[in-house]
Order: sequence, then C-alpha cells, then structure tokens
Amino acid sequence: MKALLIWAVLLNFYKLPKTGDCASTHDQVLSIQVTTHQQADIVRNISSQYETVLWSPTSPEYIGAHTEVHLFVPANKLGTVTDLLQTHLLTHQVLLDNTEDLIEMQTRNESSDPRSSASYYERYHSLEDIYYWINKTAQDYPDMVKVTLIGSSYEKRPLYVLKLSGRQERAEKRAIWIDCGIHAREWISPAFCLWFVQYSLNFYNLNNDITEMLNSMDIYVLPVMNPDGYKYTWTTNRMWRKNRSLSKESNCVGTDLNRNFDANWCTKGASNRPCDEIYCGQFPESEPEAEAVANFLRSHKDSVKLYLSIHSYGQMLLFPYSCSNEEVPNHAELFELVQEAAMKVRRYYRNNYKYGASAKTIYLAPGGSDDWAYNLGIHYSFTFELEDRGRYGFLLPPSLISKACNEALLALKSIALRVIQKT
Ligand code: ARG
Ligand code: ZN
Repeated sequence: MKALLIWAVLLNFYKLPKTGDCASTHDQVLSIQVTTHQQADIVRNISSQYETVLWSPTSPEYIGAHTEVHLFVPANKLGTVTDLLQTHLLTHQVLLDNTEDLIEMQTRNESSDPRSSASYYERYHSLEDIYYWINKTAQDYPDMVKVTLIGSSYEKRPLYVLKLSGRQERAEKRAIWIDCGIHAREWISPAFCLWFVQYSLNFYNLNNDITEMLNSMDIYVLPVMNPDGYKYTWTTNRMWRKNRSLSKESNCVGTDLNRNFDANWCTKGASNRPCDEIYCGQFPESEPEAEAVANFLRSHKDSVKLYLSIHSYGQMLLFPYSCSNEEVPNHAELFELVQEAAMKVRRYYRNNYKYGASAKTIYLAPGGSDDWAYNLGIHYSFTFELEDRGRYGFLLPPSLISKACNEALLALKSIALRVIQKT
C-alpha cells in the first residue's frame, strides 16, 4: 500500500512539469496539425488572439480541417496557447524554439562580420544598405545598368528599378519584369533580386543562358517593392507583412499590396477589414507602391513579355489565376513552363517545387499583381514562392540563401528562355 502511494506521488510529480515544460522563455513557431472542423475553429480563434502571428496559411479563413498551421507565439503567451491546444487534443511540434536568436543572427550578419566567409549576397541587408547597393551597382556597370525612380512608398521612400541590358543593340527590345519584397517579412525575396542582378552582371558573356536573356530582353528589377514594410521588419516587427499606410476608419496599419491590384479586387480570399493580414485597401491601387508598379507596367505593356513576382515561403511556381478558379486561355502552355522549371530544380538541386495555377495550388487570392499583369496582356506571368517549406519559414538562415537563390535562378532562366523562343 505504502509503495503504491509513493508510486502515485512520483507519477504525479513526474507529470507536474507537463504544462510548465512548454512555457519556454523564448518566442517560438509551432506547427499545429488540425484534423477536425471544431479544431479549425479553435486554431482560427487562437491565431487571431494572444499576439500570435499566423505564418501559414496567410489568413485564418484558410484554416480548415486537415490544415498544417504554422504559428508564431510570443514567449509570454506560450503557456496559454499550448494549454489550449492540449485541451482540444491538437498535436503540435516546435518548429523554431527561439526566434529571437535567429533574428539576431540574421541582422547581425548584416554589418560584414570579418569572421564570416559569406559573401555580400549570402547575407540579408537593411533597406539603407540596399539603397546604397543600387547606387553602387549602377556606378560599377554604367553600360549595363540604368536606375529609374518609378514612384515612392506611403512613407515617401523611393521605389528604384534597375534596368539591365546586354551590350548588343537591338531595334525593339522585349523585356522582363521582376519584383521582390511585396511582403515585408519575406526577406529571401529582396535577397533574390540582389542575387539575380549580381549574377546577370557577373556572368554576362560567360554563361550562355544569361547572355542570351540579356541580349534579347531588357530586365527590369524592383528589389524592394514595399520599403516601408521592409524597414519596419528590421526595426520593429520581424513578422510584418503589409505596407505601412494608415487607414481612416481604423487604428490598424497596412494594406496587403498583393491584394491591392485590380483583379477581382477584394472578393473571396481578401479582406475589407484594415486589421487583417490580407486587407485589400480602400480601392484598387489605393497604395502608392501598387500604383507605381501598375503605372510602370501599363506604360511598358507592349515590351514586357514576362512578369515575375518573388515571394516566400512554400517552394511553388505559380501562374494565374489566383483571383478565380477559372483557367487562363494559355493554361496548358504555362503549366508546361513551370513543370519544366520544377523538373530542372529537382534534378540539379534535389528539391521539390509544387507548380500550377495559384487558386488550385494554394488558395483563392484576388487582387494580386500576377493576375493583374496577366489581364493587362502580359501572358507569361508567374509568382515564385521560394524556400523553404516551413522548417524556418520567413526566418530562413543566411547559410541557406545561396541554395534558395540558385534554384530560383535556374527556374527563372528556364522560363525566360522559353518565353524568348515564343515571343
Ligand atoms: N502567397 C502569396 C499571397 O498570398 C502569393 C499568392 C499567389 N498570387 C496571388 N496573386 N495571390 O499573396
Ligand atoms: Zn508573399
């Protein structure tokens, strides 16, 4: 009897830290497996409270039964959140157990650490650094790079586009457009634009693919489409997605620039509530960043044959439509292009990318730049979601930048060379 009692006490004691052991002193990212509709309601609820930030899917409305949810939870709310998960029999794993350290590493890396062997392009850079880089690159390659100002952000930061051209004169040049950094927290995206520009300039006349691309097309690159948001992720909140425009009806800040274009604007898959991550804004192109890009593309629509928007994360090569389940007229052709690109990435980098029409591959997301560009007449229009699949998500470590960029570059070249043949 006595032994039993001791056992019971011991067992209980052993159980005690159960709730405590999840209460980390660090901010974490959890992966939560939702299996029932009731659980989906619970997680939707949690994700809109407790200062959590939903990483995947982008908006609570996309959480259904059988969804894997990635959720950032601040340290002081971990106990509450994990208790709630346990109560509702929701299983979870810790994806990142200390996001503060990861963030610190990624920003410290910025000032070139003499101990690090990583190149400039294998690190993340502040907005000021990127502006400096744009200027320097234009100076170093005066015959291949022209910088134009296409507009400014809500907080009046300049939106610079680099125009890359080969040294061969051609009568009427076709063009490619690439934008990065629509969403502030997707740091690998601006890193890719820098990587791409550097690669183009260094390997022109050395690598056949890039030489052919630059000889037949001008390439417009917008490295940071959302400078206010990007700045904010460096100074204040690493998890910020939208731009930083103030709204008249609400204290919430920011519009989702990829819901602000005129393509089934603000229908299902976008939100008219300013506090939401997928807020569509007051009207199409209400945001100066979206308007600047739209104006530029409208005035270059005859030459721009290929539109490309770079995001993360998820590893996907997507094409229109996002704003409806309808198939575009050249669906089969676009499907072949992304299929071929994904096949090359699989072969060379042993990495799997999903591919297909956005609405069917991820979710309905109206008001996106890719759909809008498509409807403008740019019938080769793509959105890339770069690495990874959620292991690090938005906090992809600098050591993984080169692989993420190289494989996306391979996919880009594959698609661009086909478009050159076709147009
Ligand atoms: N994940 C991105 C988003 O939610 C891109 C989706 C693909 N394209 C689009 N137009 N929604 O905005
Ligand atoms: Zn994005």
